[in-house]
Amino acid sequence: MKFFADTAEIDEIRELNEAGLLDGVTTNPSLIAKSGRDFMEVTREICELVDGPVSAEVVALDHETMMKEAETLRKIADNVCIKVPLTIDGLKTCRKLTDDGTMVNVTLCFSANQALLAAKAGATFVSPFVGRHDDNGFDGMELIRDIRLIYDNYLFDTEILVASVRHVTHVLESAKIGADVMTAPPKVIKALVNHTLTDKGIEGFLKDWQSTGQSIKTS
Ligand code: E4P
Repeated sequence: MKFFADTAEIDEIRELNEAGLLDGVTTNPSLIAKSGRDFMEVTREICELVDGPVSAEVVALDHETMMKEAETLRKIADNVCIKVPLTIDGLKTCRKLTDDGTMVNVTLCFSANQALLAAKAGATFVSPFVGRHDDNGFDGMELIRDIRLIYDNYLFDTEILVASVRHVTHVLESAKIGADVMTAPPKVIKALVNHTLTDKGIEGFLKDWQSTGQSIKTS
């Protein structure tokens, strides 16, 4: 499963990238607002830092303006992936852009039927929001299971990008179901490393090592 960071914070992206954990980045208008940075400038910086797809979202609601915004965004770098909402205009924009060879992430997906539409429109990625689904009394992971089943039934190429990930269990379940990608806030990705037995093990090894009185010479 590929890991994308769901953030527009450069330092966090750099840290995860240097650890070899990043396959891409997703941003959205709320994350750009949170960063306090200029949209074009921060997107360009992220694209330079990360080799994989970097999702940048259009804000227009009609197809014509979405296409114009996408035109501006795709000039930023070759790894920009245009993010469009799951509406008829968004799907129309998706079809047009993917036919031109541009990567598209269809976002704000909350049902398997919507995911079916995204695949039919040729989306590179579909982003089902599991956290927001859970928040509203639905089962986010059940949605991922349904989409996986449908995409496998028809061998759709669209990748399932699990979004609105809130905790490490969302990541584990996504991997068990066979989602193609998950995007999570850096703090969730970093939390995957935590295990109390790892901490205890390090503590025990260090204690025993100190008792030997030895050291590993470094230059
Ligand atoms: C995905 O691309 C979105 O940016 C994101 O995952 C939304 O997450 P949220 O529900 O935590 O805002």
